[in-house]
Amino acid sequence: MSDSPHDARPRRTFAVISHPDAGKSTLTEALALHAQVISEAGAVHGKGDRRATVSDWMDMERERGISVSSTALQFEHDGHVVNLVDTPGHADFSEDTYRVLSAVDAAVMLVDAARGLEPQTLKLFRVCAHRGLPVITVINKWDRPGRDPLDLLDEIEQRIGLRPTPLTWPVGQAGDFHGVLDRRTGEYVAYTRTAGGATRAPETRMSAGSAHDLLGPTWDEAVEGHELLGADGADHDHAAFLAGRTTPVLFASALLNFGVAELLRTLVELAPAPEGAHAEDGTLRAPTDDFSAFVFKVQAGMDRAHRDRLAFARVVSGVFRRGMVVTHAQTDRPFATKYAHAVFGRRRDAVEVAHPGDVIGLVNAGSVRVGDTIYAGRPVRFPGIPSFAPEHFATARATDSGRYKQFRRGIEQLDQEGVVQVLRSELRGEHEPVLAAVGPMQFEVAAARMEAEFGAPIRLDPLGYQLARAVDEADLAEVAALSGVEVLHRSDGVHLALFPDRWRLGAVERMHPHLDLRPLPASDLDAEPTRPAR
Ligand code: G4P
Repeated sequence: MSDSPHDARPRRTFAVISHPDAGKSTLTEALALHAQVISEAGAVHGKGDRRATVSDWMDMERERGISVSSTALQFEHDGHVVNLVDTPGHADFSEDTYRVLSAVDAAVMLVDAARGLEPQTLKLFRVCAHRGLPVITVINKWDRPGRDPLDLLDEIEQRIGLRPTPLTWPVGQAGDFHGVLDRRTGEYVAYTRTAGGATRAPETRMSAGSAHDLLGPTWDEAVEGHELLGADGADHDHAAFLAGRTTPVLFASALLNFGVAELLRTLVELAPAPEGAHAEDGTLRAPTDDFSAFVFKVQAGMDRAHRDRLAFARVVSGVFRRGMVVTHAQTDRPFATKYAHAVFGRRRDAVEVAHPGDVIGLVNAGSVRVGDTIYAGRPVRFPGIPSFAPEHFATARATDSGRYKQFRRGIEQLDQEGVVQVLRSELRGEHEPVLAAVGPMQFEVAAARMEAEFGAPIRLDPLGYQLARAVDEADLAEVAALSGVEVLHRSDGVHLALFPDRWRLGAVERMHPHLDLRPLPASDLDAEPTRPAR
C-alpha cells in the first residue's frame, strides 16, 4: 500500500469476479504487483506452496483452496486511488459476492480463454446486470491454447446479451501470445516474459509498420481481426458501457503479467467514479455530502493474531477521519472509530482518512450488521442488502451441553455476519435453532468456526426443506397449521414458511390462494437493486 493514498484523488472501486480457477487470485496478485503494493507475486493469497502467505484465519480456506474472507486492497495508479474489493471464489458464497458487488462501482470479469463462459461467470454477470454495474471483461490465460477470440466474443454476446467491444486484440493465437494490438491507437504492445511471471512484464510499444516488419502474417492477422470488429461496430462506446449494454474486452495472461498494466489503465480511464447512493427515502446522498457509509461485510476471527470483529463499510459520502464519532443509523447509537483498518490478506494498516469509494474495516463495531448505515452530520439510512432465499436447512445443536453459553454467542455472531441465516421458532426453542444457507459450504464454515472460535462444536442435522417463502404476520397461524410446512422467524424480522419441495408449495398455493407467500430474492437474483445511484 502506498504511503498516503487517502487524499482526495479520484477513486476507482471495483471487484474481480470469475468462475473458480479462471485466475482471480493470480490477477489480484498481478494487479498488486503492478501497483507496487507488494514486491513479488504470491505475497497476497496465492496457491500451492505460496499458500503460507495466505490470510490464515481459517484452516478450511487453506485446505479447500477457497477464499472465504473478503478484503480490500488499496493502491495508487496514475494519479488515482484504486480499491479492489475481493469476492469469495466459491459459488456457495454467492450471497457474499452479492454483498461485495453492492460496494463497488465496476466489475472486472475474468474469463478463461479455453473454457469461455462457465456457470458461475454467467451467474455473476447476471448479478452485475441486475445491479447496473459496468463490466470490463478480461479474457485470461491467453498464454495457453484456447478458443478462437471471435468465438469467445460471440459467446458473451449470445449468452449474456452484453456487446463485447475489445480494446485490445491478441497478436498470436491463444498459446502463442506475443502481445496485443491497441485498438485505440493501432499500435503493437509487445510483452516480454520474465521468470515465472514474478515481476512486472516489460511492455514495448511500436507502430503498426514496425510490428508488420517484425511479425509479418501474425501481425496482419491481428489487424484483420481488429478491422472486422470495427466494421461490425464493436468499438468502445462509453455511454453504452456505463449503461451496462457493452463490455470492453482485454486479452491477458495474469500468470505472466501480460495485459495487467492495460487493465489498470482501463480501470482508471473507463470505470466510473463513486456517485453516491440513494437513501431509503429515495433521496440521493451525494459524495460531497456529510460522511456516510454502509456495511457490506461483517467478519470475525480473520487472523489468529487479531481475534476481533470487523465491519467492512464502503464510504458513500463525505470524509471519514479515524476517531470521529459516527451514528449507527439502525440503533441511533453513536460509536467512536478509534480503530479503523484497511485489511487485505494478513495486512492491516490503520486508516486515518477515507473518501467515497474507499473501504474501511471498523474494529469491534458493536451491533453493526450487514446492510447497516453509519453517518455523521445529516442523518441518512440506506436500504439494506437483501438476504437471499435459503435452499438448505439444518438444525444446529451444541454437542456439549455444558458449552451452551458459547454456542449461543457463536450462533449470534454468525447470524450477524451473515455466514448463515439463523431461523427460530417457539416450538424449536433457543437450544436448536435452524441454520439456513444458499450453498451447503456455508454450513461447513459455520461448524468449523463454532468449534475453532467459540469452543462450541455443533451437530448439524439436515432438514428436508428446499424452499422458503416470506409470510405476513396475519397469515402466520394459518400457514403454520398446514401439514408439511414449518414457519420460522429470521432475525431481520422476516417470517419464513419452509416447504419440502415445489410440489408442496404449488399445492398450498392452489388450495389457499388467499395466502400471500412471497418469493425471497433468489440466488440467481430477482432482488431489487438497492445501490449504487446509477
Ligand atoms: P481463482 O482464484 O480464480 O480460483 O484462480 P487462480 O488464480 O488460483 O488460478 C487457477 C489456476 O490457473 C492456477 O493454477 C493458476 O496458476 C492458473 N492461472 C491463472 N492465470 C493464468 C494465466 O494467465 N495463464 C496460465 N497458464 N495459468 C494461469 P494451479 O495449477 O491451480 O495453481 P498454481 O500451483 O499454478 O498456483
